[in-house]
Amino acid sequence: METPLHVAVLLGSTREGRFGPAVATWIRGHLDGRQDMTTDVIDLVETPLPTVFPVLGQPPASEEAVALLSAVSPRLAAADAFVIVTPEYNHSFPAPLKNAIDWHNREWNAKPVGFVAYGGFSAGLRAVEQLRLVFAELHAVTMRDAVGLQAPWAQIRPDGTTENPGGDAAAKAMLDQLAWWGRALRTARAARPYGA
Ligand SMILES: Cc1cc2nc3c(=O)[nH]c(=O)nc-3n(C[C@H](O)[C@H](O)[C@H](O)COP(=O)(O)O)c2cc1C
Repeated sequence: METPLHVAVLLGSTREGRFGPAVATWIRGHLDGRQDMTTDVIDLVETPLPTVFPVLGQPPASEEAVALLSAVSPRLAAADAFVIVTPEYNHSFPAPLKNAIDWHNREWNAKPVGFVAYGGFSAGLRAVEQLRLVFAELHAVTMRDAVGLQAPWAQIRPDGTTENPGGDAAAKAMLDQLAWWGRALRTARAARPYGA
């Protein structure tokens, strides 16, 4: 059997009292139910990243920054594919998520990215559309079908369980696309290193 795709789930919300962990646990349940994927959930509260960048092209100056990055960067590098869990903040995505994206470059190259977004009326989809622009710059491929959860706090319990399976079909569609692109791009990267 083919080696399962290794999927890093990046939880982009760090707000006190955040709902994000419930959404991340919900999508993790979908990933755990698949034979073709393994999962690593990266929570930016557990592994925060520095917010002061070094001189362009130079490594971080402080040992603390290096230590913080070492808890995240190898995990992104090891991933064949990504799922970004993001709320919508002011019609966009949260700053800590952008910070985590910007600390990395090659880790994203030639890999697929799926989205699980949530928020109020827009179900977080404005955050997704902005993230597509960012990931295009990083030579990543974003999945056409995103999961958008409208007011998920009314659908998903803190432990990630739900009695309203409205998002389940969308999760399957997004993960099926991620699986196709993940396998295709893993094979392509192995055959010819991506020269971004
Ligand atoms: C600073 C801030 C801005 C927000 N802006 C939006 C918005 O533009 N559109 C929306 O649908 N919800 C918005 N919300 C509501 C959030 O999507 C909702 O509170 C969600 O639970 C936030 O994710 P979190 O709990 O994981 O932090 C905003 C929330 C915050 C804290």
